[in-house]
Parts: sequence; C-alpha cells; structure tokens
Amino acid sequence: TGLVTLDNGFGNTAAYKSAITFVDGDNGILRYRGYPIEQLAAQGGFIETAYLLINGELPNADQLAEFNREITQHTLLHEDVKRFFQGFPRDAHPMAMLSSVVGALSTFYPESHNPFDAAQRHLSTVRLLAKLPTIAAYAYKKAMGQPFVYPRNDLSYVENFLRMTFAVPAEDYELNPVVVNALDKLLILHADHEQNCSTSTVRLVGSSHANLFASISAGISALWGPLHGGANQAVLEMLESIQKDGGDVDAFITKVKNKEAGVKLMGFGHRVYKAFDPRAAQVKLLAHEVLGQLGKSDELLEIALKLEEHALKDDFFISRKLYPNVDFYTGLIYRAMGFPTSMFTVLFALGRLPGWIAHWHEMINDPTSRIGRPRQIYTGTAIRDYVELDQR
Ligand code: CMC
Repeated sequence: TGLVTLDNGFGNTAAYKSAITFVDGDNGILRYRGYPIEQLAAQGGFIETAYLLINGELPNADQLAEFNREITQHTLLHEDVKRFFQGFPRDAHPMAMLSSVVGALSTFYPESHNPFDAAQRHLSTVRLLAKLPTIAAYAYKKAMGQPFVYPRNDLSYVENFLRMTFAVPAEDYELNPVVVNALDKLLILHADHEQNCSTSTVRLVGSSHANLFASISAGISALWGPLHGGANQAVLEMLESIQKDGGDVDAFITKVKNKEAGVKLMGFGHRVYKAFDPRAAQVKLLAHEVLGQLGKSDELLEIALKLEEHALKDDFFISRKLYPNVDFYTGLIYRAMGFPTSMFTVLFALGRLPGWIAHWHEMINDPTSRIGRPRQIYTGTAIRDYVELDQR
C-alpha cells in the first residue's frame, strides 16, 4: 500500500491545487483571485465578490446586473419548505436548521443531482445564493415566534436579508444604511479562505460527486463548531462570562495560560496566520466605526480591547504566535446590529457560501480531480481469533 505519512490535522498537506484564494500567513495577506481583500471590502460589493470567486473575474456592469437579476428571481422558498421550520423545536439552533434545510433543498431539485450538467450546476449556484438568506431569516423568525417575511425583489441582497429578518408585519421597518454597508463588508471579508475545515468538507463531500446542496449542507455543519465559524458565538459568550465575573480580564488570561479545563481565548489563534489575520484588522476598524455610528457603547467591546491588549503583551500568546482572528470582533458588530448570539455563525455561513460554491465548481471542472480519500496509520490489535459469546 506504499508509505503513508501522518499529518495530524492536515497541517502540512496540500490536498488540492486552487486558483481561487491566496493566503500568506507569515505576512497577513489574503487575496481573492489576486485582489486584496482590503480593496474588495472598501470598494466592492458582496455579490460582485461572489461572482469573482465563482467565475474568476470581476463582472462588468451587464454581467453584474444579470447575476443580481438571476439571484433575485430565486429568493422565494417553495411553500413546502416552511413546514420544515414548523417541525423544529422553538429553541433549535439556527445552524442546525440551516444545514438541514439546505440538505432538504436537494429533494426539491432532483434534476440538480448530476454535478456534470453545467446548466443545472449554474441553477443550483443561483438557487443557493438566493435562498440561503431566506432560510437564515426564517430560522430567526422561527426562534422569535414571528411570521415569516417574504423576500422583496426591489431590495439588494443584504437589504432583503435584513428586512426578512427584522421586519415585523404591521410595523414599519426602516433599513439603516450603516448596517447594510457594514454587513455587506463583513460578508466580503468572510467570502473565502482556501482550504479551511468547512471548505475542505465541501470539497471532500463533492469529490464523491454528491450534488451541490448536499455538499454545502455538510460545509455548514463543519462551520458550526467553535474551533471554526462557531468561534464568533463562543467569543461573545466568553466576553459575557468575563463581564458576569466582574470584568476581570487578568483572571481570565491566567485561566487560559494555566490551560484550565479547556479554557481558550476564543477568537485568537489561527492555523495559517502567524503574524496577524488581515480580516481581523478590517473587522476591528469596522467594529469601532459601526458601534460609533449606531451610537452604541458596549462594555463587552471594552473587555475585548483589554483582552487583546493583555494577550499581545503576554509571552504565552507571543511565543505561540496567537493573534486575534476574524471572529474576535465580528460578534460585537452583529450584536450592535440586533442579531442574537445564536445567529452569528449563520452570518458567517452567508458570507462563506460563494467560497464553498467556487471550490466545488473548481473541483468538478478539474478533469484530474479524484475522490478524496485520506489514509490512516492503524494502531489497533494486529490479529486475534474470534471468541464465542458465552466465553467472553
Ligand atoms: N487560546 C489559548 N491557547 C491557544 C489558542 C487559544 N485561542 N489557540 C491555540 N492555543 C495554543 C494551543 O493550546 C497550543 O499550545 P501548546 O503548544 O502549549 O499545546 C498552541 O497554541 C498551538 O495551538 P494548536 O491547537 O496546535 O493550533 P491549531 O492550528 O491546531 O488550531 C485554532 C488553530 C484556530 C483551532 C486554535 O487557535 C483555536 O482553537 N482558537 C480558538 C478558536 C477560534 O478562535 N477559532 C476561529 C479560527 S479563525 C476563523 C475560522 O476558521 O472560523
């Protein structure tokens, strides 16, 4: 069977070649298709970025208009999909609802099951981009016990999502441009990150030629964990628990350094970034900007700033090259926008969707790609004889 090398957690194994995203972890660089994320976040839009990731080039005005038109046309969910939400318990985690309903979409579009049908591939792409915000908003409405709000075709992607989430029938809902703009930027900053856990999951599932809905549903599940996208929820919960304990940041840092039963500084550390996470730098600026513009002072922001300041001076974190990652400050912005903690990772999923889709297409279009099938080093008993039940 040849020589097999152990690479715990794939720290040093490139499983694919990819032309989508470049990460230089030593220098804090992140580029989508060659474009620095700082430029895309400052000047671009999320749908434009999605088009770039999936198609390889920025769209011209006509292409962007057509892409927006296609997405807008598919935002509605089949009425039967609403019944899935009725079946979930009221306190169901929205990430569980998101992955289940996305998986269930494949039952509505059986014609999408052949990944080599290019027209269907495109349709599934558009459907997913269009419907994920609707599913996310419905998951929120389910938890709130409020009626679903249907999508509106005259609104932008982010505006539509915010309205479906926060509008209540019979009450006026006014979109806040500060929130719209900040959420669009945050989605751009989350849109791809090469072979992270969820994207590799999408590729691994897709490598068996499973359809796009099934592959993305698996990616959403992988994202949910607190070491990955679930970290944004975990950070907020950590900040709240420090606040509850009287805001003693030093005491918390000591617990982390003593490695007290699984206590980590959530939102810190990254497998690839060893100098800084360029997304975190952008998000921190945005946190100050948004909280300032919304006129919200947040004691949790003070705690986060203190934690960061203490950690960056402490040898435990310095020697391990632990810096704030993208999840450290995002939750504070989401909270200021009015999202409950349980929705934070859902927002990450909305942002990451185009990246997942782009990787799935890249793999399916690559004639050299093979099924993902890692090896192992067996550590069990070599061989033994079967023992009859009455003799065990
Ligand atoms: N707090 C305290 N210690 C840490 C942390 C942390 N956040 N992260 C890593 N370490 C320590 C770890 O205990 C180990 O120490 P030692 O050498 O004494 O055993 C050392 O640093 C190396 O860590 P590792 O676990 O080998 O690193 P990894 O590359 O396997 O894990 C990580 C990367 C992101 C999972 C990890 O840093 C972590 O758990 N961070 C907290 C969760 C988090 O914020 N995740 C979001 C990641 S970024 C966005 C995303 O992917 O969603």
